[in-house]
Amino acid sequence: MYNPFSLEGKTILVTGASSGIGRATAVECAKMGAKVVITGRNAERLQETFDNLEGDGHTQIIADLSDKQQLQYTVDQTPTIDGIVNNAGIGKTLLFKFIDREDFNEIMQINFFAPVFLTQLLLKTKKLQKDSSVVFISSISTFAVGVGDSMYAASKGAINAFVKTLAVELAKQRIRVNYIQPGIVETHIFDSGVIDDEQLKETELKYPLGRFGQPKEIAHAAIYFLSEASKWTTGTGLVVDGGFTLL
Ligand SMILES: NC(=O)c1ccc[n+]([C@@H]2O[C@H](COP(=O)([O-])OP(=O)(O)OC[C@H]3O[C@@H](n4cnc5c(N)ncnc54)[C@H](OP(=O)(O)O)[C@@H]3O)[C@@H](O)[C@H]2O)c1
Repeated sequence: MYNPFSLEGKTILVTGASSGIGRATAVECAKMGAKVVITGRNAERLQETFDNLEGDGHTQIIADLSDKQQLQYTVDQTPTIDGIVNNAGIGKTLLFKFIDREDFNEIMQINFFAPVFLTQLLLKTKKLQKDSSVVFISSISTFAVGVGDSMYAASKGAINAFVKTLAVELAKQRIRVNYIQPGIVETHIFDSGVIDDEQLKETELKYPLGRFGQPKEIAHAAIYFLSEASKWTTGTGLVVDGGFTLL
């Protein structure tokens, strides 16, 4: 059957697959025919994702990607791949005057340095093949401003800028590099209580399509970038936000 979005025959690495957007991405990629390599820190939740993967030949890697040695271990355990979804990340809300270097360092380590150096190591070891696709999960926070979001927005803005140059550098190998900018998606990222329930309800009403996103809806955007359907798309960002940033 004709399906330009098929991932049949591809192996895809998904970081942060023990939860939320990463879990949905791994599950949906497997449904589209991919073999997936999933990473996370929490072994129990990563196993839950693994148990929900259709098909066989999938693998899981438990690692903290903000740790240099564990990042190298992840690369060592990763087979040759056709795509990566750099999804693992954290949110942190703090007014600028209260931010110190440790706060900034924590968020940059996982949201920026980990995906950047993971991608570099995969390229250096030739595990990321010609014609492959690199996807970063960014955020609308780079242009839809939220008070207290400066560190998070900077970590994602750095990714967006980085993608543009990388896309040009890797174009000769026909490796495409793109990012997705989700609006608010219902995942554990909000469990830390960074946004209170009342504030969340109020914000949801502002979404033109009437609700926050579901992890699967970001996974489907990732599938577009990972598949042959986006063969001529590189260095670009896709906003998936229920219309929120139109207003
Ligand atoms: N949810 C949203 O509204 C939203 C909006 C825009 C962008 N995003 C972005 O989407 C991505 C996924 O977010 P989510 O909402 O799905 O969050 P989530 O449910 O909290 O999942 C985050 C994932 O990242 C992993 N992770 C965090 N720190 C890690 C580290 N140091 N090493 C390895 N893995 C680590 C977690 O692993 P463990 O749980 O196993 O530790 C988990 O699998 C993030 O980059 C986030 O910034 C989310």
